[in-house]
Amino acid sequence: MKLAMSAEKNIQKPIYRHAPPRACLMIEALRGLGYTTSTALADIIDNSIAANANKVDILFSWAGKLSTIAVIDNGEGMDEYELDNAMRLGQKNPLDERGINDLGRFGLGLKTASFSQCRRLTVASRKNGASNCLRWDLDVLANSQDDGWYLLEGAALGSESHMTAFGDSDGTLVLWENLDRIVTPGFNEQDFLDLIDQVEHHLAMVFHRFLSDVRRCLQININGRAVEPWEPFLTNHPATWSSPVERISSGSRIVEVQCHVLPHKDRLDERQHILAAGSNGWTAQQGFYVYRNQRLLLAGSWLGLGRGRPWTKEEAYRLARIRLDISNSADADWKIDIRKSMARPPVVIRDKLTRLAEDTRERARRVFTHQGHPVLSAD
Ligand SMILES: Nc1ncnc2c1ncn2[C@@H]1O[C@H](COP(=O)(O)OP(=O)(O)O)[C@@H](O)[C@H]1O
Ligand SMILES: [Mg+2]
Repeated sequence: MKLAMSAEKNIQKPIYRHAPPRACLMIEALRGLGYTTSTALADIIDNSIAANANKVDILFSWAGKLSTIAVIDNGEGMDEYELDNAMRLGQKNPLDERGINDLGRFGLGLKTASFSQCRRLTVASRKNGASNCLRWDLDVLANSQDDGWYLLEGAALGSESHMTAFGDSDGTLVLWENLDRIVTPGFNEQDFLDLIDQVEHHLAMVFHRFLSDVRRCLQININGRAVEPWEPFLTNHPATWSSPVERISSGSRIVEVQCHVLPHKDRLDERQHILAAGSNGWTAQQGFYVYRNQRLLLAGSWLGLGRGRPWTKEEAYRLARIRLDISNSADADWKIDIRKSMARPPVVIRDKLTRLAEDTRERARRVFTHQGHPVLSAD
């Protein structure tokens, strides 16, 4: 390439070559971001919530290699232009301010979450009565001669029946077909049913505040069955200890923290004890629960905090669970990742969080070892 020079201003223009990624390989690489089926579906539901849906239906349908997963919401839907933008990668600026209810950030979730599970993604949306439908098919991209980004019009042949899912109302349908990352060799119908259970537990936890918020009245159904919220702190139990809510200033932003010590095993009946353990068990579920705009990002982590070296999860502290609320305007400070499953506290609040956690851990240890006798609090 030639070196171009502006004679007048003597400004050197950059020498460049055009270097777009090859569509098929780029998407193949993005498939490995590390989503599970549960975290991928949570990312799809984030979009439904951001579009003000109050009903989300997830349909798992087993047919061996032809199995499908569909998510149908009754949100505002997208017009043709919005749907086209939604399907493209790199169409939104991650640095933009987001609406207060927007659970998105990178403009990638719909695509990266979907491709982590399937090879064909079809999105149909209806807004103000007008329907549109676009589709990515990784097999079509892989077989194309020129590495182009071929976004296909309409549903695949044979899949049209899915498109009637939202009846006469506005909303959006996300359809995953060719589930090559789920239906791997040896994966059978029982595995599919077990997967549905895992997804149900995950969504019950991640969206518990939306599911129990009477103003929002969000309902998530899996194959017609309502997902019940799972609240980690047992705040309604009389033997749970809860600190006052602390508001910590982190630069111009406020972080809200409330510490909880759950009741000793003796204070819970067997069913309560099993349920409160959470899907990963008592010891794994201790620590901070980080919420971003009410949506749970991290379920039980000591966030790398500790004195000298980071605390590890130990049985003695298993009753300690701390709620921490941040807003989406603090994403960069907290280093939110694309999967929205990682967050790091900014340095300015680490000391304060360490002190609160230290106190809560000590209270939790005492309840754990004192077999359910109430711990008198100084507060
Ligand atoms: N279910 C939906 N209803 C309405 N709009 C949606 C829906 N899903 C995605 N979108 C639109 O597509 C855009 C891109 O979604 P996504 O790839 O998940 O990135 P992000 O959520 O970070 O913006 C969203 O910002 C939104 O405008
Ligand atoms: Mg999103």
